[in-house]
Amino acid sequence: MSAVEVKAVSGGVGVELANVDIGSGLSDADFAAIQNSFIEHGLVFLHGQNMTPEQHIEFAERFGDINVNRFFPKVAGYEKIASVTKEKDQVTNIGGGWHTDHSYDQIPAMGSILLARETPPVGGDTLFACMYKAYESLSPGLKKTLESMNAVHSSRHIFGDQSAYRDEMDGVFENADKATQDAVHPVIITHPESGKKALYVNPAFTLHFEGWTAAESKPMLDYLYQHATLMEHTTRFKWAEGSIAIWDNRCTWHYALNDYHGTRREMHRITLEGSPLN
Ligand code: SIN
Repeated sequence: MSAVEVKAVSGGVGVELANVDIGSGLSDADFAAIQNSFIEHGLVFLHGQNMTPEQHIEFAERFGDINVNRFFPKVAGYEKIASVTKEKDQVTNIGGGWHTDHSYDQIPAMGSILLARETPPVGGDTLFACMYKAYESLSPGLKKTLESMNAVHSSRHIFGDQSAYRDEMDGVFENADKATQDAVHPVIITHPESGKKALYVNPAFTLHFEGWTAAESKPMLDYLYQHATLMEHTTRFKWAEGSIAIWDNRCTWHYALNDYHGTRREMHRITLEGSPLN
């Protein structure tokens, strides 16, 4: 029996869990409560989790295999933990636009566990949006049309040699030569665990609908993006050192706000291996 408390944080998406300390050793019942919340809500927040990198890895491995992001810098000594850091003098941040992680992969990552190590005095919140709600609130006609469509996703324009974004992030991102992944996924997926339908295109990595040009795709994608990010589908998370967000990439998007120039933010991210999307 778990004593973990679950409380919704907004009408949009996300729950906050209390009465749990991951670092002090999680019982199977407490882990099951976290995992069930992750599957049911797609977004889980916890505060006060000042765990070591080893404990962070151990916790992630209870969900399954870790997917090492090939572009992000690593935390020194910990190949499995990506460093999502913005230094005081850095202008561009990592993740500063709506996206879901790894949609450019054939088998996109299931989720991510982001742990705040250093937070700026003001700002640096993360926005999240619910792709179940984005799907459910479309008209029956548009749902039906989208359900027969696929979209092409890529990493090249963000992490590849030709990426303008990459120039801004010179010395931050790694392995431009590995930005070769293009992947085709359904525009509407059925979540492998919850069985619910979710919108699965995103502004960062989706290039166009399969069989459509980028120009033809743009008006519909723009419509879907503004629809997906209606305030009613979103929440905003305020970090403190030791806060954790665990998000499900199959049914949420996130956006790291870049509003803390001149101050430092350091987050440690572990990405979880996923399964094929249908
Ligand atoms: C990310 O996109 O993984 C970073 C999110 C954040 O730093 O808040």
